[in-house]
Amino acid sequence: MHQLKNTRKIQDSLLAWYRINKRDLPWRKTRDPYAIWISEIMLQQTQVDTVIPYFNQWLKRFPNVKTLAASDENEVLKAWEGLGYYTRARNLHRAAKEIITKYNGKIPETKDVIMTLPGIGRYTAGAILSIAFNQPVALVDGNVMRVFSRLFDIHSDVAAQTTQKKIWALAGALVPEKNPGDFNQALMELGATICTNGSPSCLICPLAGECISLEKSDPSQLPVKKIKTKIQKFSGWIFVIENKGKFLIEQRPAGQVMGGLWEFPSLMKADADHFPNKETVGKIKAAFTKFRGEYRVARINYKPGLFKKDKSEIFCWITPKEFSKFTFSAPSRKVLELVFQVKQSAARREPAPQLLV
Ligand code: ADE
Repeated sequence: MHQLKNTRKIQDSLLAWYRINKRDLPWRKTRDPYAIWISEIMLQQTQVDTVIPYFNQWLKRFPNVKTLAASDENEVLKAWEGLGYYTRARNLHRAAKEIITKYNGKIPETKDVIMTLPGIGRYTAGAILSIAFNQPVALVDGNVMRVFSRLFDIHSDVAAQTTQKKIWALAGALVPEKNPGDFNQALMELGATICTNGSPSCLICPLAGECISLEKSDPSQLPVKKIKTKIQKFSGWIFVIENKGKFLIEQRPAGQVMGGLWEFPSLMKADADHFPNKETVGKIKAAFTKFRGEYRVARINYKPGLFKKDKSEIFCWITPKEFSKFTFSAPSRKVLELVFQVKQSAARREPAPQLLV
């Protein structure tokens, strides 16, 4: 374990800095555990600026656990549309239902219990318990890992289990009894605004006096990331198929990437080669998890026998007026913009329909 004789100094300097410099964010105006939970889930793979309007609209639409639990999943996905990683929304919905049935509508206040809920891992548990319930529970996210790897001059691969264990132990040793929520948020805030990736602003950092890497090595070279996820490239086609003013969309199977979302039919390039007479009307770039690539978009008039319907797939034909009722995948939202000049964005008011098949 690293020496922690300066625990008090680190806590005090960081908290004093945070009080003056914290960003004015909507979820910092409340201690409501439900609101804190929603914000923390939204913030997990999405930037603060993007999250703000979604957070505000979500709380208007689903102001508490009860309204969320009572809503239809399509409606929940619709409010999430554009945030990506839709499992987060599905887990919020499932967890809300569980909180109603098992915990009388109250978000559990103990770490072991709250972590049994879908989508609530160690990080989210730490965030809710410290920020909403004022418990001295630690949390570690990417920002905290970067801050700690520099503060304690850790040169082992941050993705390695032993390093993670060390960083969680440091976070646990540092989180104060008083103001644990502010302390945890201050660590993340420091990582987001001062101790940033690449070139940290050490000259104005409140922890510069305690930072071991600033003294002994080079903060800008930390954290060490050895394992790179391999990006897989792809290219494909998306077909906008028209039949008498209606367009064909299909629903992605549950359990797959972007499961449950709707899209225009697509094929990878090799599978699309046997489709002659397709003319590109535009191109869109797409990125999900470890895939990066490009789709060519083609408009086609439907003819009987154009394609075989696979029994397992859910298709429907809809008019452009009905587009707003469906939650589309990111590439298909780009197609809506490209072909129909329709912008599908954040949380809209009208309820999403049940499956129209
Ligand atoms: N990142 C995720 N949650 C955060 C919070 N509450 N404060 C600062 N950064 C965050």
